[in-house]
Parts: sequence; C-alpha cells; structure tokens
Amino acid sequence: MQTTDPRDDGVACDLALTRRDLLLSGAAGVAAGGVAAAPIPAPAQPTPNPMPLHPLSLTVNGQRHAVEIDTRTTLLDLLREQLHLTGSKKGCDHGQCGACTVIADGRRINACLSLAVLHEGGSVTTIEGLGTPQSLHPMQAAFVKHDGYQCGYCTPGQICSAVAVIDEVRAGIPSHVSADLNAKPLLSAQELRERMSGNICRCGAYSNIVDAITEVAGGAA
Ligand code: FES
Ligand code: FES
Repeated sequence: MQTTDPRDDGVACDLALTRRDLLLSGAAGVAAGGVAAAPIPAPAQPTPNPMPLHPLSLTVNGQRHAVEIDTRTTLLDLLREQLHLTGSKKGCDHGQCGACTVIADGRRINACLSLAVLHEGGSVTTIEGLGTPQSLHPMQAAFVKHDGYQCGYCTPGQICSAVAVIDEVRAGIPSHVSADLNAKPLLSAQELRERMSGNICRCGAYSNIVDAITEVAGGAA
C-alpha cells in the first residue's frame, strides 16, 4: 500500500505506512480487548501471632483472675487494659514518676517496670482495692482532708506508696537516709521525703501530701 501524501518519497512512504498500520492495529486491539486491568493483589493472609499467649493466675484486690497474656505485658498494662482497673496511672512508663505505684505482695512497685508474668500466683493491691468512695482508706481520707492533690493524676500512686511506706517503717525496713540501720526507723520529715521521692507530683502538692501522710503515720508509725 502506498501513501497519497505527495511529500513522501519511497522510503518515507514505507515508514509512514508502517506507523499507520501499527496505530490502526493498536487501536483495534484496544477496541477488541480493552485496556489490560492491573493484577488484583491477593487478600492478605492473617499472620499467626508470633508470641504464644501465656496463662497467668493472680489475685488483684482480693479477686482471683485467670488471664492469657503476651509475656511482654507489663503489670500496669495488664491492670489497665485487660482487667480495666484504670486507677493506676501511666505517667512516664519508664519507672520515673511513680504514677503507676501498686502494692505487690506487700511491697510497693512501679507496675510499668514489672512484667505481669512475674506475678504468677501473687497478690496485687491497687488504689481500687484500698477503699471505696463510701468507705475510704485512712490515707485516702487524709489526702482529701489535707487537699493532697490538684489534678489527681499522681494521687493513686502517691496513696499506694504512702500506705506501703508506713508498713515499711512498721516493719523496721531502713531507707537510704536512715542513720542507724539497726534502730527502728521513725518517719521523720527527712525519712518521709526520701521514702516518697519516687512519686512525682507535677502539680506540686507536696506540702499537703506530707501533711496527709504525717497525720496517718502519727497513729501508725
Ligand atoms: Fe510507672 Fe511513671 S508510669 S513510674
Ligand atoms: Fe497533679 Fe500530683 S496532683 S500531678
């Protein structure tokens, strides 16, 4: 087939025909088959949990719980996320603020630094287990009386810590500032400041917190 374009010489005519034929055949292909659809990716398969769950049994506030947890779960996350005890607060999640303080087997700990699996068979007390709005623990009542809080975020940890501090003094456990490690410790102002130094209050309610603890300790230490 020859082009009718008078400007074309022989070689150009052949090339023009070839281009035209190519375009025509391409257009015909599109009309016949449409544009090829992009391949549809296969649906993602659920990936199996790489960490098998671990059975855990512990007592929280006098109630037995049997749960299954990822072994990487902290005690704080177990309390808040699985047992829905949100009184213990997550402040720093790094053991630096004390907002997550709970009492585990009689000792205060930062729940954010303790793996839940370490408490198999153990007993944990949170702020919810100390008292109720109708029947406050003496330390809770003293915090209310002395206005030992402002925003209240640190308060559950402060109160759990303060309750355990009094038990530590009663048990004769010295602190880093106890002058005589063999003498029964007294809850002096210096001892109180040292023992409560892991509980930070960003509202700065410290003087009222000290008043509250001192009042309760007066009848206990
Ligand atoms: Fe645990 Fe701050 S949240 S110490
Ligand atoms: Fe607000 Fe302590 S009362 S951080």
